[in-house]
Amino acid sequence: MSKIFVDACLGKETPYSPVWMMRQAGRYLPEYMKVRAEAGNFLNLCHDPKKACEVTLQPIDIVGVDAAILFSDILVIPNEMGMKLEFVTGEGPLFRNPIKNEADVDALICGEEAAVKLDYVYDTIKLIRAQLDDDKALIGFTGAPWTLVTYMIEGKGTKTYNLCKKLIYTQPELMHKLLAKVTEVVKLYMVKQIEAGIDVVQIFDSWAAALEEEEYFEFSWKYMVEICDYLKEKYPETPIIMFPKGIGQYLDRIYGNFDVFGVDWSTPMSLAKEKLGDKYVLQGNMEPCRLYSQEKTTKSIEDIHSVMQGKRHIFNLGHGILPDVPVENAKHFVSECQRISKN
Ligand code: CP3
Repeated sequence: MSKIFVDACLGKETPYSPVWMMRQAGRYLPEYMKVRAEAGNFLNLCHDPKKACEVTLQPIDIVGVDAAILFSDILVIPNEMGMKLEFVTGEGPLFRNPIKNEADVDALICGEEAAVKLDYVYDTIKLIRAQLDDDKALIGFTGAPWTLVTYMIEGKGTKTYNLCKKLIYTQPELMHKLLAKVTEVVKLYMVKQIEAGIDVVQIFDSWAAALEEEEYFEFSWKYMVEICDYLKEKYPETPIIMFPKGIGQYLDRIYGNFDVFGVDWSTPMSLAKEKLGDKYVLQGNMEPCRLYSQEKTTKSIEDIHSVMQGKRHIFNLGHGILPDVPVENAKHFVSECQRISKN
């Protein structure tokens, strides 16, 4: 059965522009909070295929999105490369022993050995696939190598990225060595996600905007493109979505073998359409805080639709939904996207 979301990724005409939300399985849903409480904490939930499958499916049933996104986290990758991941309540992810030198890079578990340790993710995908309606797509994902190494080097979220940048400007070869190792695991991980049953791949480069233009293309985009080339050679039919957050000023230099470009909320949709709309399907880009107001949500959807006109477009938020958004407003967003873009 054809899936509207996959068709849209491939640039085919669809009855309306499909919609999903980043972080759609998450804390704004009371049903999610209940399953997370049963699991004990967020990481246990990621490691429990039955529960992870359950929360993946919740936004399909509750808010009516056109695609499910695998419930997991980008940071399970460094965890399986041997860095112990913790989540400190209220503060986010933490690696107590971040990468400091070449010996730390050499000690990482790499390649197939790390990829097979993510077996609980593949098990989750198989369970979801068995339960998801045939007309809904399942999105698998990874963090971009650059975004992953920011956590591996800084140990947690950062405002300055100073340790990462110190490496870039003083030991660029070591940074490349680390990025290459992570890229290798990501390639194998994404192939295994595809083989387990995902329909579409999304690569999140959440911290793209931390880098200068040349450095961005050298230390991040290049590795993302390498992942695309690898996946497209093996599975040319599987669409790939690239989401580099906050690099609207570099759009002229975007290249690569992928299908959909995710537009963040700070990049005007009209600019993205002008620069990339012929080459890539565009996804995005409502500012997620508009979800606090139904009226402002509808206005934004109309504005985005007037640019895209229901062609080569997937509705999405320009970043993740926040935990205090009323569920009713998330439902409103989804149904308005489907209504307004109907041909
Ligand atoms: O619904 C979905 O989008 C699928 C699941 C998903 C999660 N994380 C679950 C999650 C996805 C796709 C991610 C990706 C992710 N994780 C990114 C890239 C996307 C982005 O937001 O830019 C990043 C940078 C991370 C790392 C991460 N995970 C951080 C910084 C945090 C803490 C901040 C926060 O929002 O709490 C997490 C935790 C996290 N990942 C939660 C969820 C549902 C909240 C955990 C909880 O339930 O307490």
